[in-house]
Amino acid sequence: MKKSYCLAAILLGTTLMGTSLNETAALQKGESSSTALVQKLGSELKAVMQKDGPVEAVNFCSKNAISLTHEVSKAHGVKMKRVTLQQRNPLNRPTPEEIEVMNTWMSAMAKGEQPTAVLSKATAGFTYYKPLVINNDVCLKCHGTVDSATPLGQALKASYPADRATGYKMGDLRGMVVVDIPQE
Ligand code: HEC
Repeated sequence: MKKSYCLAAILLGTTLMGTSLNETAALQKGESSSTALVQKLGSELKAVMQKDGPVEAVNFCSKNAISLTHEVSKAHGVKMKRVTLQQRNPLNRPTPEEIEVMNTWMSAMAKGEQPTAVLSKATAGFTYYKPLVINNDVCLKCHGTVDSATPLGQALKASYPADRATGYKMGDLRGMVVVDIPQE
């Protein structure tokens, strides 16, 4: 009697763990793939900035940011994109759901709280949203106050005539990484 009760508890335990593990695994997957993307883009950007300067780095970003995002996504078996409320690249426009998540973070930040990653159940699998906060001076070079008379300002204007991604300060929400995690 005691034995079968024990077995039932183990079975129940594994079922519960089964469902929560799925969510835990999705969280880990979202976190690891978005971190890999941020690191990849950051290190490539830094390398080009140091070697060839900010104007070349703008050209590098406009040519490669999206393809690098696809590359890192593929390596992690997910689909990722970067979106923002104020786009530089019009392709990085958010959906209404994504706007809602970013607005929630903006309200939290207005109260002095940190924005935290969100995991939501999708029709097949999960969607993970990772906040991107301006936490490095280097971001402000191209997303802070940019003088339009400088070569950098000119390069941005030439590639992005409708650029909305300047005027940020340290600690501002720049956007987010959206990770679509498929059901295994
Ligand atoms: C050398 C200039 C430069 C620097 C420095 C830079 N960016 Fe960008 N950023 C760009 C360009 C150009 C784009 C548009 C191309 C793209 O990535 O889609 C962009 C786009 C983005 C986007 C996609 C949303 C959009 O507006 O299109 C995010 C998010 C972003 N940058 C965050 C950052 C963060 C965070 C940093 C600091 C770690 C940073 N950037 C540093 C030039 C720069």
